[in-house]
Amino acid sequence: MRNVILVGPMGAGKSTIGRLLAKELRLSFKDSDKEIEQRTGANIPWIFDVEGEAGFREREQAMLAELCQTDGIVLATGGGAVLRPENRQALSSGGRVIYLHASVEQQLERTSRDRNRPLLRAADPGRVLGELMTIRDPLYREIADLVVETDERPPRIVVEEILERL
Ligand code: S3P
Repeated sequence: MRNVILVGPMGAGKSTIGRLLAKELRLSFKDSDKEIEQRTGANIPWIFDVEGEAGFREREQAMLAELCQTDGIVLATGGGAVLRPENRQALSSGGRVIYLHASVEQQLERTSRDRNRPLLRAADPGRVLGELMTIRDPLYREIADLVVETDERPPRIVVEEILERL
């Protein structure tokens, strides 16, 4: 089977759902942020601090291009993976793209105890998440083959829906 590519905002559950889905489909699971960290030998906040968001986006674009050439993976992408047209092109030709949707309230709840997301260090992360969704929601939809709701739903249920609709 071709790759399955998960896109969506921070806190949509891309990594958790991706791991479960990969198991069900007997594919291997890849997380683009984790791959970037392994390759760089530094974590995402460090990359943002030292190279800025622009530096991170360069690394992200190169990593997505590489991962989309691979076969037989479930790929969890970072929330900003859809920002660059080159990435949208690579993702949509790299496999079936699933948009995991979550409301801003759920994104906020699910990310509130996590310190690994530099964009949410702001004083008002709820406002940041809202602004990001306004820009990104149409971009997620532009490349999605499937849109799946994750609000108030355990990952197992979301995976069942994806398996039915794939
Ligand atoms: C980002 C989301 C993060 C990570 C980086 C930037 C974004 O990934 O790529 O902090 O721009 O939304 P997750 O969506 O996995 O949290």
